Amino acid sequence: MIKKQTYLITGGAGFIGSHLADELIKTGGRVIIVDNLSAGKKENVNKKAVFYKRDILDPKLAAIFKKERPDIIFHYAAQIDVRKSTKDPIGDAKINILGTINVLENCRNFKVGKIIFASSVGVYGEPEFLPTKENHPLGPISPYPITKLTVEKYLSYYKSLGLDFAALRYSNIYGPRQSSSGEGGVVSIFIDNLLNGKKSVIYGNGEQTRDFLYVADAVKAALLALKAPSGSIYNVGTGKETSINKLYKLIFRDTGNAIHPKKVPPRFGEIKKSCLNSSKIKKELNWRPKWELEEGLKETRNWFKNKN
Ligand SMILES: NC(=O)c1ccc[n+]([C@@H]2O[C@H](COP(=O)([O-])OP(=O)(O)OC[C@H]3O[C@@H](n4cnc5c(N)ncnc54)[C@H](O)[C@@H]3O)[C@@H](O)[C@H]2O)c1
Repeated sequence: MIKKQTYLITGGAGFIGSHLADELIKTGGRVIIVDNLSAGKKENVNKKAVFYKRDILDPKLAAIFKKERPDIIFHYAAQIDVRKSTKDPIGDAKINILGTINVLENCRNFKVGKIIFASSVGVYGEPEFLPTKENHPLGPISPYPITKLTVEKYLSYYKSLGLDFAALRYSNIYGPRQSSSGEGGVVSIFIDNLLNGKKSVIYGNGEQTRDFLYVADAVKAALLALKAPSGSIYNVGTGKETSINKLYKLIFRDTGNAIHPKKVPPRFGEIKKSCLNSSKIKKELNWRPKWELEEGLKETRNWFKNKN
């Protein structure tokens, strides 16, 4: 009998991690989730997964590795709030760097085969050319993406010790289950506000752009990354730029609520343009984004509608 693969997902009660857990379970894999529920929700956790409420910084993380013996780790737990990272860079680095090292040490001690890491478009900083390719200069401009780049370097170090890895530099991911509180995704904030008759805020003139990728496409890239050559780093985005004004208009049209956003001064350190060239993952792993923005927005709106 072929042994079932055991996947451990850190951050598996969160937005992307929980969708990933659902897909891995569909493929017949055994899924272990480690999440401290600081942002994630118990209701996101697939009933067929084994759930541990634990911090990735906790030395007792080792007990989970010892008991469950995962073959592969998807490392998606992180402090993801850029503004929080500027206000509390030490707290941010503790989770995103030291927490990750704790995960990596356990990978080493318990002979995990591979780790897939959720990195970010933020490692490039303000792009010099668009769509941005993996060979673009790296220049993160705030602590959160600095931690992502730092972890990529640690992954190379652990690779030299025998741990296989793939890092996915995601663009802006959106979809059902994304938080609309705090500095959650702009898509979920706009949808939630419009459905509830509330005004949204747009920072600056709204002409800043982002590359919005639907969560199912982000998950598909993670699954394909299982067969990526060791040490691969891939951009994962649509290659299409959408301005915040355009995004608002699309959601506004879709929800049918004519509420105009409030424009306020731009936030310090915000990137003006963002869009990823993902031809490397297309060529090597045959990944393609399947979801058009309008379709993904409809799915997300339906989820919020049923939730409210
Ligand atoms: N959403 C995006 O647009 C995007 C873009 C690029 C990269 N990423 C990365 O993808 C990953 C998942 O992001 P998401 O949008 O699903 O965010 P999320 O906040 O929904 O998920 C992160 C999860 O990690 C958990 N977590 C946080 N700190 C923890 C700790 N110390 N110990 C254990 N669990 C902890 C949270 O409770 C949460 O469930 C993150 O690493 C994020 O940096 C996300």
